[in-house]
Amino acid sequence: MIGPLVNAVRVSSACLRSGLGRCALVSGLLASFQVGAATPAPSLPAPASLQVLHWWTSASERKAADLLAARLAEERIKWQDVAIPGGAGIGAGKVLKGRVLAGDAPEVTQMIGVSIAEWADLGLLLELDNVAAAGNWSRFLFPSIEELVVHRKHVMAVPLGIHRVNTLYYNRALFARLKLAPPQTWAEFEAAASRLRKAGIQPLAQSSEAWQVAALFENLVLAESGPAFYRELFVQRSPQAAADGRTAEALRRLRTVKGWMRRQLDERPWTQVVAAFAQGRAGMMIMGDWARAELAEHGAALDQDYGCAAAPGTAPYHLYSVDTLAMFAGDYHQMQAQERMARLLVTPGLQADFNALKGGVPVRRDADPARMDSCARASWTTFAKGAAVQAPSLVHRMATDEVSRDAIIAELHRYFLDDHVGVAEVQRRLGALFRLFNLKSQGAPGAQDTDRRR
Ligand code: GAL
Repeated sequence: MIGPLVNAVRVSSACLRSGLGRCALVSGLLASFQVGAATPAPSLPAPASLQVLHWWTSASERKAADLLAARLAEERIKWQDVAIPGGAGIGAGKVLKGRVLAGDAPEVTQMIGVSIAEWADLGLLLELDNVAAAGNWSRFLFPSIEELVVHRKHVMAVPLGIHRVNTLYYNRALFARLKLAPPQTWAEFEAAASRLRKAGIQPLAQSSEAWQVAALFENLVLAESGPAFYRELFVQRSPQAAADGRTAEALRRLRTVKGWMRRQLDERPWTQVVAAFAQGRAGMMIMGDWARAELAEHGAALDQDYGCAAAPGTAPYHLYSVDTLAMFAGDYHQMQAQERMARLLVTPGLQADFNALKGGVPVRRDADPARMDSCARASWTTFAKGAAVQAPSLVHRMATDEVSRDAIIAELHRYFLDDHVGVAEVQRRLGALFRLFNLKSQGAPGAQDTDRRR
């Protein structure tokens, strides 16, 4: 009987805080509590239906989402699917904004990184403090995962899994035939790429789609400088970092790597890049580890058909993107189902099963690495070393707000596509953008900046 009372009290405090005129509903809830007080607690939770907006549309992502739907169904919660295609959530972010503006927010949405803080500041998200406190999330979440979902001391999202963006995949048969070792540095990468090309094989499967180019650049910055400088560039957005020689070197390297792609540049979706690599049409690929799950869909087996390693120069580091689901409070009538869903998503069994299908690793410190494949184990054990080795992905919204991210990605894309744009010019333009952003804020709220105290 305590549950409904706690919830009603919580709603009323959220209602007072948000000032969004939800208080009429609170009295309704309190009234239903009083009526409910006389009746015995039902053994089964009431059936509920939640709309879930997300961008998991590839074959492997679909399987992972279906697993969540099946587990929720066991809890009498129907997953109403709202899948919006577009890698890295480019389309989903726009649809979400449109729906919220039209007063039609889904109950649950994939919302990641700094976006959580941006939406939370609007007062629209459901606080999950009760669920997190009752489940003692602090005890088992990695500290940087907890930091990511907590905004202004409230838990605003449920973490599902951690992806490693600095992952290199190589074709084992081709590497064995050419007697190549997986490259650990960019110099070794150049040597391997050159050997592959001489053998008539395209060295790198890579799209020229904006977000995929920027993801490659993140890898290059991390390799060139390590996580501390990476943060200066993408989290603090320091004009000095933009002008730094290490940024110049990463930009030069981006152009060199472009030379190892298909001559005919095209903006293929990431799924097609994975398909090309799986079919042996390229020797290497650098992509987040969701690609691993998609490779399985093509029948490619880890450690047999392909190998998985850290992207050159980044072995000690973890360039991460964390999948999280946030809940819109709406009129609070779905709150109990939303809380039940949140509770379920962090359980050890669901974390292990979901991440095995999705290609990521659990957000839990107590996960069992012995149950992971070699690629997942390397990711999880590296991430577990803590903030000093972790770098938040710019592309996947972990480093900065949406507007800054989009502007930085656009600059990098322009440089990548047009060989007439010089390195110094990009550095100048990034510096100017950073000065502008920093007039507005000293680092985005929620950014994964470990130097900043909450
Ligand atoms: C990331 C997301 C992954 C995967 C990837 C490609 O942002 O965390 O789950 O969907 O985009 O779209």
